[in-house]
Amino acid sequence: MSLQHEMILILDFGSQYTQLIARRVREQNVYCEIVPFNADLAKYGNYNLKGYILSGGPSSVLDKDSPLLPLSFFDTSLPVLGICYGQHLMAYRLGGRLTQATTREYGRATVTVKSEGRLLKDVEHSSQAWMSHGDSLDALPEGFVTLAETADIPFAAIANDDKQFYGVQFHPEVAHTIEGKKVLRNFLFDICGVTGDWTTESFIESSIADLKKTIGTDNVILGISGGVDSTVTAALLHRAVGDQMTAIFVNNGLLRKNEYEDVIESYQVLGINLKPVDASKKFLDRLTGVIDPEKKRKIIGETFIEVFDEAAKANGKAQWLAQGTLYPDVIESVSFKGPSATIKSHHNVGGLPENMNLMIVEPLRELFKDEVRDLGRKLGLAESFIGRHPFPGPGLAVRIIGEITEDCLSVLREADAIYIDELRQSDQYDKIWQAFAVLLPVQSVGVMGDQRTYENVIALRAVTSTDGMTADWAIIPPEVLARISNRIINEVKGVNRVCYDISSKPPATIEWE
Ligand code: XMP
Repeated sequence: MSLQHEMILILDFGSQYTQLIARRVREQNVYCEIVPFNADLAKYGNYNLKGYILSGGPSSVLDKDSPLLPLSFFDTSLPVLGICYGQHLMAYRLGGRLTQATTREYGRATVTVKSEGRLLKDVEHSSQAWMSHGDSLDALPEGFVTLAETADIPFAAIANDDKQFYGVQFHPEVAHTIEGKKVLRNFLFDICGVTGDWTTESFIESSIADLKKTIGTDNVILGISGGVDSTVTAALLHRAVGDQMTAIFVNNGLLRKNEYEDVIESYQVLGINLKPVDASKKFLDRLTGVIDPEKKRKIIGETFIEVFDEAAKANGKAQWLAQGTLYPDVIESVSFKGPSATIKSHHNVGGLPENMNLMIVEPLRELFKDEVRDLGRKLGLAESFIGRHPFPGPGLAVRIIGEITEDCLSVLREADAIYIDELRQSDQYDKIWQAFAVLLPVQSVGVMGDQRTYENVIALRAVTSTDGMTADWAIIPPEVLARISNRIINEVKGVNRVCYDISSKPPATIEWE
């Protein structure tokens, strides 16, 4: 992001929807950042700041320790939009009156426009909006007027055009608020006067210039997993610094069928300097006899660091370590409680040794996942690649319940490949957030021909989700499940039973270990 880009700052008061506000703003090609409500705003003095959005939050403005803004904040000449708690806070600080509620209003409400003003220009006279609040406003501060109401709330949207201060009780960022997008657009384009200059092309251009300047003639290494984030990072760095960047791809022996070879080939096609390291034996030796899932993860993590460190040293002098960190990782590590809260550092490759002495470069740290996918497309990555399901760092180790052996890996790889192949062929793959097979440590009785069998059970997992934090089991048509099961039992030696996992997260997790 260059200093010239138009920018909106979202002050976070702890709402579960704050990231959604940011995504909705970005979808309008407007760059925005989320900062804690008590961040030092003077830092943004050199930016092309166009307005503020005050997020919702779980607190009551009337509580003793509620997060507030100093009155001086409202001396700003920039437009401000307060959402829910943000609206209460603005109104309260400017002299309005609030009533503390005993219960929360949660869910759909009908908003009726009384006077469009600038904020509600062209918004339907009556439309559904999403509410989630306790307190409500019962007297406006001086200079404010009402733009909309609901059956229960007289001040569903308020405005002070002179000051360019606006507030909404409902959540325009939530899909259930039918006119939400229009309200946000009005605020951004008509009130803040942005033009929408945040596009993937402009990001590529400015970030390549930044990377060239930052890295200069130095060398960069990057650990890649074959996943979308690390590959887009590699492709972008490759555009910026060419062969000064080396991508290191460690085969931990826990990859899916043909994955190691496929990744090597796709990097060749992209012309990216790739150094593959086959360390499968080292990983699998260390995992022999290990059953405890956390122990598996620990061994894999430590071995990865060791192998990566050796490969990096063997590759000569690199001054920079690149990582595919995304914006949600960055904001999640900054609590809304603000600068005083502990800031956890984020390492995609998990705590590389400090003695590597590398400077960190994270070219995607301003982007959301959907923006990364767009970027990948513009950088020439194939659509099939962009839509790939996430795959965990410890790979198949957390999908073989119990001890990991070569035989188990081979059974699981075959079953998983059939499963994914059938999902793709039946057009189910892109509807699912993540799908994979799991090998269970039990044998069950079956019959094949005239023979009794006593063989392995494969569990199929498929979930829908937006971020992996919560998930629902995916509904796959029965005929597709039937084909998958038939093929696995017929084609994978050692499997005589296939089950489908119908647990949502929570209380289950997506992976089985
Ligand atoms: P769970 O199983 O916690 O998974 O519901 C949520 C998402 O995270 C992925 N996952 C991991 N990714 N290292 C990773 O890089 C891990 O140890 C790990 N464990 C889970 C999982 O695949 C899902 O997308």
